[in-house]
Amino acid sequence: MLVDNATVLSDAPPGKRAAAEAALSRIEEGAPLGIGSGSTVDVLVALIERQPGLVTGAVAASSKTEQRLQAAGIEVLDLNMTGTLELYIDGADEVDPGLNLIKGGGAALTREKIIAAASRRFVCIADDSKRVEQLGDFPLPIEVIPMARSYVARQIVLMGADPEYREGVVTDNGNLILDCHEFSIDDPKALEKRLNAIAGLVTCGLFAARGADELILGRPDGKAETILPG
Ligand code: 5RP
Repeated sequence: MLVDNATVLSDAPPGKRAAAEAALSRIEEGAPLGIGSGSTVDVLVALIERQPGLVTGAVAASSKTEQRLQAAGIEVLDLNMTGTLELYIDGADEVDPGLNLIKGGGAALTREKIIAAASRRFVCIADDSKRVEQLGDFPLPIEVIPMARSYVARQIVLMGADPEYREGVVTDNGNLILDCHEFSIDDPKALEKRLNAIAGLVTCGLFAARGADELILGRPDGKAETILPG
């Protein structure tokens, strides 16, 4: 069941709410945009609903975000019809100083990566618990074709990491998730490239080739800080 937007806002931790609130100023009124997936994005959609006319249509990164947009009276747009988007707003599981990200905690990484790639600007919104010096404490999610699950897992082991099958999860694309522990991510772009070369691996949750252009970090005191790639 979909939690209503008033509850989303009243339950939102101050850091997530601060980041989502600050992101409203990046939105050009009436322009189509991409909206990611996760609890911080849910707060953003709830805030958008309170400003009628600000967003009339958006491309959603997950079926859950689609439902939230529809409940807020916002048209869900097809990326095949919008062309390049000016703006994509999404959360993250980890962010490093170069604004490379780990994403996919909510299993929406493939659509998230597609919309990020199809957008001119990617604004990441997160609370300050997501900021790290080096990516990798959060297990790296990868989406795999079901028949390739064991093969991809063996390749990950050969790369020195420890893949864990996310039981009971099927992505919006009908695929499976492996959460990879113990990756040493000192070169996010190089690792993303290596992972992308594995047959049967659909998407890895490293967003480094196309990281964020701006990070809005919400703090527990309710203030937000803007960070550009360092
Ligand atoms: C989903 C994601 C989310 O952006 C990420 O998990 C952050 O979620 P939250 O805003 O709930 O902390 O990548 O696949």
